[in-house]
Amino acid sequence: MSVVKINVLTVNPEMREEIEKRFAGRAGLVESAEGFEGFELLRPVEGQDRYLVYTKWRSEEDFQRWTQSQSFQRGHAEAAKDREAGHGHGHGHGHGHGGPAAAGSELWGFEVVQSAGPKQG
Ligand code: HEM
Repeated sequence: MSVVKINVLTVNPEMREEIEKRFAGRAGLVESAEGFEGFELLRPVEGQDRYLVYTKWRSEEDFQRWTQSQSFQRGHAEAAKDREAGHGHGHGHGHGHGGPAAAGSELWGFEVVQSAGPKQG
């Protein structure tokens, strides 16, 4: 059964462009992961302030394996660097160079119980 993992990122308005740029530069890192089925970066447009990082995986195990992989850890190294340096606990403060661009994050997990797509033909 596929699972959906959504990382919910709080992004200050002045950091939107920066965070989108960072994602654009790293999207390729997830594509070759085993069991990876899809990724979307969802920009809030109806007054919400949080981006959704939507990812879909063949199984929970595939997702877990990816988060423990070098590829994931390399892709998130900039944010992690800041934490190691002791600038808070995963809550950035919105500066542009290095360090986290997000002001906070929350992981939501789901099992896909029903789905549909457009009719073929
Ligand atoms: C659902 C799985 C994911 C989890 C649990 C996750 C985890 C995180 C966390 C906790 C942050 C916030 C770091 C911070 O600024 O404090 C973050 C930011 C980020 N993530 Fe992910 N992520 C996921 C998926 C992805 C994917 C698929 C990509 C690439 C396509 C990606 C690329 C990034 C980038 C570029 C940032 C901005 C980092 C920065 O502030 O420099 N993430 N992620």
